Amino acid sequence: MAKEFVVTPWEVTGEVDYNKLIKEFGTQPLNDELIKKIEKKAGKGHHFLRRKIFFSHRELDILLKEYEQGRKFALYTGRGPSGNTHLGHIIPWMFTKYLQDAFDVPLYFQITDDEKFLLKPNLSLEETNKMGYENALDFIALGFDPKKTFIFVDSDYAKTLYKIAIQIAKKVTGSSARAVFGFTNNTNIGMYFWPAMQAAPCILPSILEGRKVRTLIPAAIDQDPYWRIVRDVAPKLGYPKTAAIHCVFLPALTGPKGKMSTSTGEHSTIFTTDTPEEVKKKVNKYAFSGGKDTLKEHRKKGGNPDIDSSYKWLSFFEEDDRKLKKIYNEYKSGKLLSGEIKQILIEKLNTFLKEHQKKREKARSQLDKFILKD
Ligand code: TYM
Repeated sequence: MAKEFVVTPWEVTGEVDYNKLIKEFGTQPLNDELIKKIEKKAGKGHHFLRRKIFFSHRELDILLKEYEQGRKFALYTGRGPSGNTHLGHIIPWMFTKYLQDAFDVPLYFQITDDEKFLLKPNLSLEETNKMGYENALDFIALGFDPKKTFIFVDSDYAKTLYKIAIQIAKKVTGSSARAVFGFTNNTNIGMYFWPAMQAAPCILPSILEGRKVRTLIPAAIDQDPYWRIVRDVAPKLGYPKTAAIHCVFLPALTGPKGKMSTSTGEHSTIFTTDTPEEVKKKVNKYAFSGGKDTLKEHRKKGGNPDIDSSYKWLSFFEEDDRKLKKIYNEYKSGKLLSGEIKQILIEKLNTFLKEHQKKREKARSQLDKFILKD
């Protein structure tokens, strides 16, 4: 029987059941006690925590306990530069900023020009490398501190990373790579080695700081298979196991199935570089509506916010709980129309993007302060 949904680092299809995924991947649900601990340290809450957008973890409890005992950790996250940054990518990055502010720890950001070159038949290494530095601008635009944030593009930091990656690669068999990542006989051998490169930054802070540093990875749950591998290998090499905190996917604009991704089509995706007109057009034309077919019916029976893309997106981008609740209630009662909830989303996204695009341009001159090279 075909599976109802599939989540791998390269593919998300079907309507994801996140509770099932926790069981399938063997992660832990993010409980209220851990949420409270993070919020206490941050001095403020985060709507991604309150709304369980971050919903799962691996050994976050242990990492926080160590932190309370005075052992600082490092944050690690990343981007695979196969195209422009879209709004789904920046969800884990926004949360990473909150964590860095809360815990005052170094942050490592890997840009995997090598991965996307190996994976995408039509992309050259030159193209993915160039796109990597463009994507870095979106990350910097979120306000990270250059004194404690280190960005590296794999092929330009290969000398350092390679030495770590081969230590890891030596401990991972082909059959384990096949089981975890679904590689086949047709997969190129670059991809077989590739997971060791994404695992390497889990150990990098220990090498750079000369002490054993645990890493905490905020990312969507699709990246978890890598952490399974590295958590198995790191202790064999004498390093701490990586901890992770996972978020759900910002869904495609076109509906609840899959994640927002460039591969599901331009129209299901909003990029950080989109103009206000493009945002308006995409939301109006493509955002899946939970509204009724006729105005009369909608007013009478109300819409269904739980399947409505505009509402779903607002739950990621509208921080104010009261405003969001009001939108939910009014849409459900039929007071708010489908076109009106789309308008609320368009305004929210365009306000965010206007500021983001300014900061993104400013980031060009700051890039050097963040980049690690060999
Ligand atoms: P990439 O470029 O596919 O994704 C970058 C980050 O965005 C997350 N993500 C999403 N989050 C919410 N909603 C979505 N629709 C959505 N789509 C993607 C991903 O989980 C990821 O956190 N191989 C990686 C690059 C990488 C990396 C890492 C990512 C290298 N080291 C460490 C996370 C942590 C990749 O191609 O990510």
